[in-house]
Amino acid sequence: MSLNLALMRLAAAVSAEAGSLVAKSRSQPLEVAATKSSRTDVVTAVDVASEQLIRRRLLTARPHDGIHGEEGDDVVGTSGVEWVVDPIDGTVNFLYGIAQFAVCIAARVDGEVAAAAVHNPVTGEMFSAVRGGGAARDGDPISVSDCAEPAMALVGTGFSYSARVRQHQAAELARLVPRVRDIRRMGSAALDLCAVACGRLDAYVERGLKPWDLAAAGLVAEEAGARVEGLNGAPAGELLVVAAGRGLFGPLHELLVDSGFDDWPLKQWPSSGAEA
Ligand code: IPD
Ligand code: CA
Ligand code: CA
Repeated sequence: MSLNLALMRLAAAVSAEAGSLVAKSRSQPLEVAATKSSRTDVVTAVDVASEQLIRRRLLTARPHDGIHGEEGDDVVGTSGVEWVVDPIDGTVNFLYGIAQFAVCIAARVDGEVAAAAVHNPVTGEMFSAVRGGGAARDGDPISVSDCAEPAMALVGTGFSYSARVRQHQAAELARLVPRVRDIRRMGSAALDLCAVACGRLDAYVERGLKPWDLAAAGLVAEEAGARVEGLNGAPAGELLVVAAGRGLFGPLHELLVDSGFDDWPLKQWPSSGAEA
């Protein structure tokens, strides 16, 4: 078995185990354990427990690997493999009992994401990908939609936890809404990217993603045939992620530029400083 396939299988097994812990916790009273960038950017005890379980399982299986997770300090490894972990993507949905959240685990090999698993523990769906080996849902190959016209495209997006940033996002979205089929804000960036991967969305556009939001699901989308990039050749990152099939990406890019998405007034992503 190749290294990347073995990493994907480990990611899938561990995300399934963490997913069942998360799903079981839904029946218990949920509390916000802490807040991060703003009062609405929350962490529950279940986020922390899920990440602890994932870290334990990954480091037991592969003690020399590194870990970059949302809810803990970085572990520096020596093997060339680093795991990127979001223990619950869609925490606000989880807190409100909305069944749209996922456990995300990606393996970077020598700095490049090479294997990934994204698991929705409520529907049971497991999205997975190996670089160069395609993407799958529950083991069956998936691919992006063949939509090539922005006016017919169903586009997923999301908003920042920062009210100041959301104000700008609302303005640019107002210019985009009349020019696409419709917009969806479903609350889990990773599941949105997986939705592009399997044709439930035609495209996805969002600012402010962190590496753990993007790593696993970005590979799933890419391996299902999407271009996952920023604007004007920039890599997908915190400033902007655009994901769409090859036929749609070019015309959508043109529309986004025309709608002012390349003229972001804050210029740099405001990643420092909590707000009230
Ligand atoms: C968030 C979700 C949300 C997206 C935010 C992410 P979290 O992740 O993916 O859909 O709009 O940008 O931060 O906080 O639930 O792990
Ligand atoms: Ca997330
Ligand atoms: Ca999270």
